[in-house]
Amino acid sequence: MSKNLKVLLVFDSPYFVPRGYDFKEEFKEEDWGTECQVYKALCDIGYQVTMLGLYNDITILFQEVKESKPDVVFNLAEVFTQKSHFDKNIAWLLEMLGIPYTGGTPASLLICNNKAISKEILSYHRIKVPRFHTFYRDHRIWLPKRLRLPLIIKPLCEEASRGISQASVVDNEDAFNERVKFIHQSMNSDAIAEEYIEGRELYVSILGNKRLKIFPLREMKFGGFGEDEPRVATYKAKWDYDYREKWEIKNVFAGRLAEGLDRTIEDICKRAYRVLNMSSYGRLDIRVSPEGQVYILEANANPCLEIDDEFAISAEKGGLPYKKLVRKLIKLAFDKEYI
Ligand SMILES: Nc1ncnc2c1ncn2[C@@H]1O[C@H](COP(=O)(O)OP(=O)(O)O)[C@@H](O)[C@H]1O
Ligand SMILES: [Mg+2]
Repeated sequence: MSKNLKVLLVFDSPYFVPRGYDFKEEFKEEDWGTECQVYKALCDIGYQVTMLGLYNDITILFQEVKESKPDVVFNLAEVFTQKSHFDKNIAWLLEMLGIPYTGGTPASLLICNNKAISKEILSYHRIKVPRFHTFYRDHRIWLPKRLRLPLIIKPLCEEASRGISQASVVDNEDAFNERVKFIHQSMNSDAIAEEYIEGRELYVSILGNKRLKIFPLREMKFGGFGEDEPRVATYKAKWDYDYREKWEIKNVFAGRLAEGLDRTIEDICKRAYRVLNMSSYGRLDIRVSPEGQVYILEANANPCLEIDDEFAISAEKGGLPYKKLVRKLIKLAFDKEYI
């Protein structure tokens, strides 16, 4: 693949900026880690890189493509007009414009963004997921008899553990009703109630379109939690460093697994990736019950690519340091089947 490729790096901007705006000042801030790191890697490889920050106006994408004619888009766009489900629409537009792009297709972004649709597809293919029920806003809320307590209540289409706290795990009807209402009213979101799965929490990073590579597994450890406390990657457990320290929460490479379990996890996760139509790269959040059953909790199409987040850490350990990973993602953009 030519080093002279013209790469358009597309990402979210928190304010409108014209085409050609150079984000040097912004890239000094910690919040811009992924954009800055991907930009640097693309430049270091030797590509001709242009940046395009999107905010509320999609026409600049059309103008940029028409005038600059990029060979490929590195797609880091996640929200548009503050709606995270518009990520699939950006991919859709790129597809209609006929430009190869990195990351998931619209279909996989749609499927993975919705925690019920993805679970319906997985269970159709006999891949284990927690039993669940969806509660849409303005519908009656009741505790389904076929679900066994405790349950965990989550927003249906969110990510990064937004809306998830220790109070999300409920073991009685009152707490259940209250939490579903909280998701409806305070988060203005539909809700999903899932059976709470006890066990080890693992993150499985996968790269590829047809031939898939699984990188070394990561695990979230909840050192300071009592035996009976639910161990959940809440918003605080993920992002609040003082809280993590206080409760001895650590993300590490997974330690020893029961014999044969790593192979089982690989097989299940590869199958899940395929039936969910995932491509390019993705991360599955899974739990392994004390009995050794593997459950898929969530599929993440286009997971975070920050250098110190799970995907890049696993890739590096698996033999693909950041620059090579970025180059590989560009390569996969050309190999993808755009359906
Ligand atoms: N059914 C479940 N059983 C046990 N823990 C769960 C379950 N669903 C979610 N969790 C916990 O909540 C965290 C966040 O849930 P997840 O569905 O991955 O949402 P997000 O998109 O916000 O990451 C998980 O990493 C896990 O710790
Ligand atoms: Mg998750």
